[in-house]
Amino acid sequence: MDKYVIKGGVPLVGEVEIGGAKNAALAILAAATMTDETVYIDNMPDESDTNAMLQAISSTGAFVERTGRHSVKINASQIHTFTIEDYIKKIRASYYLLGAFLGKYKKAGVVLPSGCNIGLRPIDQHIKGFTALGAQVSIEHGIIDAHADKLIGSHIYLDVVSVGATINIMMAATMADGKTIIENAAKEPHVVDFANFLNSMGANIKGAGTDVIRIKGVEKLHGTEYTIIPDQIEAGTFMMAAAATKGDITIKNVIPKHLESISAKLIEMGCQIHESDDAVRVVATKRLTNTHVKTLPYPGFPTDMQPQITVALGLASGISIVTESIFENRFKYVDELTRMGACIKVEGSTAIIEGVDKYTGATVSAPDLRAGAALVIAALTAEGFSSVEDIMYIERGYEDFDKKLRELGAHIEKVDSDYDMQKFKLKNA
Ligand code: UD1
Repeated sequence: MDKYVIKGGVPLVGEVEIGGAKNAALAILAAATMTDETVYIDNMPDESDTNAMLQAISSTGAFVERTGRHSVKINASQIHTFTIEDYIKKIRASYYLLGAFLGKYKKAGVVLPSGCNIGLRPIDQHIKGFTALGAQVSIEHGIIDAHADKLIGSHIYLDVVSVGATINIMMAATMADGKTIIENAAKEPHVVDFANFLNSMGANIKGAGTDVIRIKGVEKLHGTEYTIIPDQIEAGTFMMAAAATKGDITIKNVIPKHLESISAKLIEMGCQIHESDDAVRVVATKRLTNTHVKTLPYPGFPTDMQPQITVALGLASGISIVTESIFENRFKYVDELTRMGACIKVEGSTAIIEGVDKYTGATVSAPDLRAGAALVIAALTAEGFSSVEDIMYIERGYEDFDKKLRELGAHIEKVDSDYDMQKFKLKNA
């Protein structure tokens, strides 16, 4: 089993290039099946989640080609299978194929998603939206089935702000008869990027980025060429790595506006932030100071950055409080972090963090994607050697994570044997 072995204690310094947004990519890939014409997508991240989605789409009969490491060509004119069971069990975003197929073909079946185990993740709002558009939705033998003779635009009020439900309903409503209004819609950057993509295929969506999205159904979508926005969370992860290691990293190919909630917290923690058009530089010269954080839907502080900031605050002076308000089970990594010397008490959805001077190297295991990345950051700051196991979670959403960190001066290697681990330890003794 692959793991990362890390010798900590080196401030990360240099430049890193951010890839395309995974969460936008997954939705965009699904929506690319909504036309018979060819769709070209650029800035597609090469990660296990996006690759599983590509395999799933290919298994339906669609033509899928990676024309370059970050570019994909899809032609869905030959789709013959509308129920997907393979490839996709582990990607939560597999549910986007429901909205896409229901919209275009009026029938869809997808195995119930699991994804990162960070709490109860119901899909009732997706189902509520599909049903409001006139679909019949049932769950049988672990498969969600949705079908309709025809979809009719509707007025839908989401009970919770859900990225997935907003995107899924947008897809189905795009090819419904008449007008749909989604109220209390998610405003995340990837929701906006996704709406821009659908509009580039001929959809009529207005208001993405606000909490009211208006969609006028169209009969047909056409081919397009589209470039995915940079990944907000990959960028934020490197920002937090700069802060935690007392480094100086210029994070390139980003949209600084999308990073504002993260930059604001880093400034409160004593870092310097320098923004330019498409880059953010994070400089940390002294011990971080404590602050309080509450995760919220965009433009609030992202839940997908909660483990990374907790790791950084674990090294800050004073007491910090981190409140998770999106997912109820997102502090599982704290046990692992405690084994590296962190002093954190979790009570329900709140972590009370008493900053320590340093972490010490340990063997830890990644419980999910973002917590895995956070444990790598902890290991990069820690005294001595660490290994981070179960890195398949990290590889779901970070392309070349170890390589990018090495280019910033980190001592990190992906190894698959004790022999390679010993070699790394000797080399970095
Ligand atoms: C997406 C992101 C994930 C991120 C999350 C919140 C993708 C592929 N994943 O996940 O990385 O952490 O947004 O920014 O884009 N909920 C319901 N009923 C529903 C749907 C959601 O109660 O039908 C609840 C969830 O349990 C959660 C909250 O709404 O408490 C937000 O979830 P949602 O925005 O839907 O998350 P995902 O789209 O699954």
